[in-house]
Amino acid sequence: MRKTLLFSIIFCDILLISCISNNNNTVFQYDKQILADSAMVVTAHPLASDVGIEILKSGGNAVDAAIAVQFALAVVYPRAGNIGGGGFLVLRKKDGHAATLDFREKAPKASFRDMYLDSLGNVIEEKSRFGHLSVGIPGVVDGMIEAHERYGKLNNFADLVAPAINLAQNGFSLTFQEAAILNKFHADFEKYNTKENIFIKNKQWKKGDKLIQTDLAKTLKQIQAKGRDGFYKGTVAKQLLAEMNRGNGIFKQDDLDTYRSKWREPLIEAYKNYKIISMPPPSSGGIALVQMLKTVEDYPIKDWGHHSTQTTHLMVEAERRAYADRATHLGDSDFWEVPRTSLLDKSYIKTRMSSFDPSKATSSDSIQAGIITNKESEETTHFSIVDEEGNAVAVTTTLNSNFGSKVLVGEAGFFLNNEMDDFSAKPGVPNQFDLVGAEANAIEPEKRMLSSMTPTIFTKDDKLFMVVGSPGGSTIITSVFQVFLNVAEHDMSMKDAIHNLRFHHQWLPNKVFIEEGALSETVITDLEAMGHIVEIRKPIGRVEGILIQENGIIEGAADNRGDDDAEGY
Ligand code: DON
Repeated sequence: MRKTLLFSIIFCDILLISCISNNNNTVFQYDKQILADSAMVVTAHPLASDVGIEILKSGGNAVDAAIAVQFALAVVYPRAGNIGGGGFLVLRKKDGHAATLDFREKAPKASFRDMYLDSLGNVIEEKSRFGHLSVGIPGVVDGMIEAHERYGKLNNFADLVAPAINLAQNGFSLTFQEAAILNKFHADFEKYNTKENIFIKNKQWKKGDKLIQTDLAKTLKQIQAKGRDGFYKGTVAKQLLAEMNRGNGIFKQDDLDTYRSKWREPLIEAYKNYKIISMPPPSSGGIALVQMLKTVEDYPIKDWGHHSTQTTHLMVEAERRAYADRATHLGDSDFWEVPRTSLLDKSYIKTRMSSFDPSKATSSDSIQAGIITNKESEETTHFSIVDEEGNAVAVTTTLNSNFGSKVLVGEAGFFLNNEMDDFSAKPGVPNQFDLVGAEANAIEPEKRMLSSMTPTIFTKDDKLFMVVGSPGGSTIITSVFQVFLNVAEHDMSMKDAIHNLRFHHQWLPNKVFIEEGALSETVITDLEAMGHIVEIRKPIGRVEGILIQENGIIEGAADNRGDDDAEGY
């Protein structure tokens, strides 16, 4: 009964939206800021936000809503929403219990350390970034099932896949951005696909065009009916392996059989009277974010002011040092001993700042990863959800690049990731995000590639405060860093904190990247006089955040850099 209602609401939504799009050429209404009493969903697409809200209204909790949103994004946001990729989920239950789920892709068993090098030992970039060899074993479907089994409230997993099936089967109208991005990648779709598919069409896509994904609907129905086996075995697995064979990929059925997502011990650390609950390795996000926050917490950045020379200089120097550590010390902790405790130790972080000069940029050449002496035992998407009970979920999920490897599994209708490029193909050689890595992140069979995804939940005085995260490759961590400080130190609303322009430094290259207009001419001149190199770049991150205000009102804010949308009630 509930299911029928849910379907009809969503279907009506779609009809209405198509109707509007036909009449006045407006595809969707985007809510960039919503204030609500009970619950909130913020995602990269209005239809996915609607799906999340409907699941919450039909009695589901934040985890149920997250699962339905993930599947819906696989349909309405094919460039990054996915079932052919992986991601991380951070949960904080209303009673304070925290959990993190790692459904990151794994390297195929037949992968090997130098698989992207030519005979001279040089990296062949195309191999790790495009096509069948760039694909890691997808983790999303296992992750969603695992999350539902442990934390779901609605009994029927099938109900959580149903809205996505509906959207795939009946279609939805493309936004301007989505039509443009499909056109942009047309040549790649032709180059890397061995089967005709819905995304390759002769005419240009335009805003308002209806995208119907019959093959994907069939795949989702398999998952709906058979759970894990609907993806990792049977028809879909056969289609996936056939696609791999056609393009000389190295997946085997055994890779699919043995893929399992993993619950990891959440990274929980303090910043003043806030707690940071974030993702541990194989994400670098949590550790780097905490390092940066613990670096700046001793300085009066509130007094110095937002985006002032002093504040920006300090934050850049914190970023430089954290990314230098990332390059050497971080990798999949199942394969590499990540010195987590040492890296997060306050005295270690203070030592890292001993070279900090308030009036001068530190040269990246003079910064290496810290020495740890204690042995110790463009494209991703993020969504944030808070349910009526106060449970919070932050999920960042990715195919890596837009449309991942550009390989669509013929007949199954979904894109495969190119996550293998997040490994360090060769020490010191940058990946597509100009990130360098070393031994810790070298390719090994079944290892997970290091990620920057930083789904994070903050509490303040032990009460839920903020749910946040972003896409943006290497800029994810610095985006979350800035958005949090904008609220916690500069008293901004969630919306202002997110819409505010950003800057980014990642040690190498030694540059402060800024969104145009992020820093005043005076601040840029000051920074340059200190020895910083400032460069304007394309937009940084697409943050989706939820803030619980002092008065208990829930503020949802969607980034204005895209089609992102907040919905609440
Ligand atoms: O896991 C990572 O860090 C990357 N695969 C994320 C890629 C990404 O955010 C691209 N989006 N703009």
